[in-house]
This record gives sequence, structure tokens and C-alpha cells, in this order.
Amino acid sequence: MWREGCFEAGRVVCAALILVLCVSLAHGNAQSKILSDLLQDYDVNEWPHSEFKRPTTVKVQMFINSFGSLNAANMDYTIDVFLRQRWNDPRLRLKSGQKRITVSNPQTRAKIWKPDTFFNNVKEAEVHQVSMPNILLRIGNTGDVLYSMRITLRLSCNLQLENFPFDAQQCNTLLASYANTDDVIKFRWEDSVPIDLPDNLEIAQFDLLDHSTHEIKQEFVTGNFSGLLVKFSLRRQNGYHVLQTYVPTILIVSISWVSFWLDPNAVPGRVSLGVTTLLTLTTLASGIRASLPPVSYVKAIDVWVGMCMIMVFGALLEFTLVNWLANRKVAPDCQSVFRIPKVLASFDEEVGWQRDQEGEEEKEAEKHVEKGGQGAASAEEESPKTPATYIGHARALDRLCRAAFPGAFLLFNIIYWPYYLTQQSIEATIT
Ligand SMILES: *[C@@H]1O[C@H](CO)[C@@H](O)[C@H](O)[C@H]1NC(C)=O
Repeated sequence: MWREGCFEAGRVVCAALILVLCVSLAHGNAQSKILSDLLQDYDVNEWPHSEFKRPTTVKVQMFINSFGSLNAANMDYTIDVFLRQRWNDPRLRLKSGQKRITVSNPQTRAKIWKPDTFFNNVKEAEVHQVSMPNILLRIGNTGDVLYSMRITLRLSCNLQLENFPFDAQQCNTLLASYANTDDVIKFRWEDSVPIDLPDNLEIAQFDLLDHSTHEIKQEFVTGNFSGLLVKFSLRRQNGYHVLQTYVPTILIVSISWVSFWLDPNAVPGRVSLGVTTLLTLTTLASGIRASLPPVSYVKAIDVWVGMCMIMVFGALLEFTLVNWLANRKVAPDCQSVFRIPKVLASFDEEVGWQRDQEGEEEKEAEKHVEKGGQGAASAEEESPKTPATYIGHARALDRLCRAAFPGAFLLFNIIYWPYYLTQQSIEATIT
């Protein structure tokens, strides 16, 4: 008895399953049937308006999914876009009363005419394949076709680096048909929003100031081609380079000035300070160079690094001069030629002077022996007035440089920053 009931239940379930299967099959068949009916006499090689002898207008919209940073070394940039193309194909009008059909089968998609759009300035492009090819092809009941795909593009962009890192750049995206001249395909931007940018679009190191869209005609020997151009205006954010380059180099240059406060005879201290700062600056400069293309013109950063090099190198040279002066013996008759200005010979100069004299006593003694055996007492009387070396001049020079070097660097900064910052804003308004 229960066995019979079980059979009964099984039969019902089975019937229900078959019914569901049949309905879904019938529905699937309907889709395929409509498409196969549509494509019965369809010639994929003919453009939609070939029988009317007029070009097909393809309306394009780009949704910028993400905007990669500009790569200065390779002179390119990367964008991830949803490329949406719309056109009308009168041969694909749906007669069955359906509103629209999404064609998901790649083989069926291949049977439908599509514009052979390509990007003129592309270096590398990829249609995303995960988890299925990111392509949408939808046919509306009036024969309107929407063809959307997600592409990552690496596009070349001619960077002008004269004002790097205070530069503004203009990068283009140019698309056109590869094989079909403008009597077959005419590209138009979508009327309302040709370039759709997400609100929170972030570009590393850059601000997207503006973009403009243009419809262009390219004349080649192969014919006239319709194309679409979008220009992105970008301005580099200065924060990164100020923090990573300008602040460290300012510190290094300032450290090199410490040398002027050290004794003219402190050879190991002053030489190692000079050489270390110079080497650190060289390392920093090569780090900056690595991220830039080897262009032959002078960039803003080259001017800066060059000036820092000159400052540090100057400090090292100044030490050489100071040390030479400090150890140079004075001939008795030419003392009055280089007189130390009052400003530079201050009170603590004299204190330092006397301390130094003590250190110099041996040399003094030698000198007086040479002079012909004068008394030690008379030498002590003479010594404050007649220096044995130019050490006073050396100290005066150090004192002068304590003001001159920072002053010169400050003056350079006063010229450098306003000049390049105005250059950047001028460039940004032009592009
Ligand atoms: C291309 O356009 C120019 C004028 O803009 C025209 O003179 C020329 O004949 C065209 N070429 C072709 C192949 O249609």
C-alpha cells in the first residue's frame, strides 16, 4: 500500500520536473530561435546601412573605471574603461514583440556586425576575461545594438618634463575604426555624458583638472577615417616630491654649512662633512633620475639638484681655501694688503685668535729662529699684532660664508619656487 503511494508521489515529482524542463527548454529555444531567425539572411560583412548607402553612426561613451598614474619613464598611462558603443542595425529589429535580447553566446556574437574600433595611441590593451569575457551585446526591439566591454588600456602620452615635478600634462585617448572609412562608420560621442567619471576617481600623484571630447577626421592614404578624441588635463601634485626630494636636499645643504662653524684646522671633521653631504646628494639625485626618462633638456628638478650640488661643493672648496689660508705663513711686508673688515673680526674672534696662537707656538718659535735668534720675550710681545699665518683671514672667510651661503641659497629659493609654481599654473590653464 505505501509502496503504491510512493510510486504515485514519484510520478508526480517526475511529471513536475519534466514540465519545468520543457518550459525552460521552450524558453531557451525561443531566444535561440529569434536569434537564428534574425541572422538567417544576415551578412556580417555588410555594415548596417549598406543598403541605404550611408554610414552607420556609432555613438561612444566611456566610463572611466580607474585611472592609473602617468609613468614618466615609459611616457604612458593606464586606464580601465567600460567602452560602450551604440548603433542601429535595421536588420536586427525584433518582430516577436520582445523588448530586448542579450546575446551571451560568443559564436552568436561573432555573427553580428560590430565596428572595428581601435585605439590609435595604445601600447597594450586587454579585454577582461574573468570570470567570463566582460562583454555585453544587447539588441533592442528597434534594432539598437549596445556593445559594451571592459578594457584596460596602456596608452602613450607625450610628457613634457621641463617643469618636472611642477608640471601639468595633457594625455589623449584617440579611437577610430581601423578598416572602415568614414563612408561606412561615423563615430560620435554620446550626447549627454560622453566621458563618465566616477566621483571618487583618484590618480596617484595627479589631479584630473578637466577633460574635453572632440570628433575628428583623419586623412590617410588609405582613406578618410572618423575618430574620437578625449583630452585629459592633469596636474602633478607637488606634495610627494616636496617631501621626498626637496626637504631632504634642503637638510643636506644646511648640514654642509655646519662646516663654517668648525675650526679651520679641523681637517677630518670638515672633509668628512663635505664629502658625506656631497655623496648623499649624489645618491638622492640618482634615485630621482631612475624614475625619469633620459630626456636631454633641463628639468626643474635638475636645476634644484644642481644648485644643491653647487652649494655643497662650494662648502667643500671653501674649506680647502680656509685650510690653506690658516696654514700659509705671512711674509712680513705684505700684511697690510688683505685687511680683515671690522664686521668679520668680532670679539670672539680675538678670543679664538689667542687660543689658536697657543697652538701655533711651536711654529712661532721656528719662525723666530729663522728670523735670526730674537729673544723669546720679544716674540711674545709681538705675537698678538703680527700673525704668523693667515688664520685670522681664514676665520673671517668662514664667518663671511656663514651668512653668504645661506643667503645665496635663500635667494635661489626665492626665485625658484615662484617661477616654477607659476609655470605649472600657466601650463595647467593651457592644456
Ligand atoms: C578625404 O577628405 C578630403 C576633404 O576633407 C577630400 O578632399 C578627399 O577626397 C577625401 N578622401 C576620400 C578618399 O574620401
